[in-house]
Amino acid sequence: MSTPPTVRKVVFPAAGLGTRILPATAVLPKELLPIIDKPVIQFGVEEALASGLSQIILVSSPGKTLLEDHFDRHPELEEILERRGKSALLDGLRDVATQMELSTVFQDEPLGLGHAVLVSRELVDDEPFAVALSDDVIDADPPALRQMLTVYDEVGGPVLLVERVPRDAVSRYGVIDGESLGGGVFKVRDLVEKPDPAEAPSDLTIIGRYILTPDIYPALEATGYDAGGEMQLTDGLRRLLETRPIHAVELDGIRQDAGNKLGYLRAILYFARKHPELAGHLPELLRTLESDDALT
Ligand code: G1P
Repeated sequence: MSTPPTVRKVVFPAAGLGTRILPATAVLPKELLPIIDKPVIQFGVEEALASGLSQIILVSSPGKTLLEDHFDRHPELEEILERRGKSALLDGLRDVATQMELSTVFQDEPLGLGHAVLVSRELVDDEPFAVALSDDVIDADPPALRQMLTVYDEVGGPVLLVERVPRDAVSRYGVIDGESLGGGVFKVRDLVEKPDPAEAPSDLTIIGRYILTPDIYPALEATGYDAGGEMQLTDGLRRLLETRPIHAVELDGIRQDAGNKLGYLRAILYFARKHPELAGHLPELLRTLESDDALT
């Protein structure tokens, strides 16, 4: 097969209300909550950049300008760091801002992931693109999106990232029924959004990374809204499956779900163990916490 069109763009849906982490998210977008010293969404953006995707499309909500501000240049701060010779901090601040090309589109109402993807249509235009959900923070080498692009180059069509989860957890995810092609790749036979564990076709759940083709847009339009008033990307993909093959690849790496309190705490601890300034302190910190009288 000839090489399929190059993927250059990645859509980050970021218009959600973040109700699972209120009141922290009353003003601060949940995507900017820090995992130690880096906002949650920056992990996804750095993954995209490391995978060769530099055109970032933010699906934001009106008035939520902090996200764009974060990824903008900060001339005054840069100047102070430069004067003080803090070159590592300066590089950390500049690198992402200079490598990415950011554009924003607004989702006026939170009408579901499918709807968030649908409003990116004009900016994506007629080319394949990726979608990354920043709640899913992935530590992988090669980066998760790169793993998926390798499969995309082979199959030339949509690729979903999947992971096995315990059966009782499948109802929180989109779940695929897939035929294994080996090497962690599946040909999707069917997919269903948040099934009852007893009815789920497998334990292979979709995690927040997708490589999509522009024909997802008419498929989403035709799908419409579910009983809860949301447009589901999984339902749009199910419709698309009637007209073209869809593949999935199992993640080779570790994913954290930073979109809920416990998962967010886990993500912080996970990255603390890898953080050069903190790793050495963590065992002692956890020990002292455990022996802390205030906790007993
Ligand atoms: C969304 C998708 C779901 C997917 C999940 C991955 O659900 O609808 O299919 O498995 O992301 O994180 P949400 O987490 O927005 O409820």
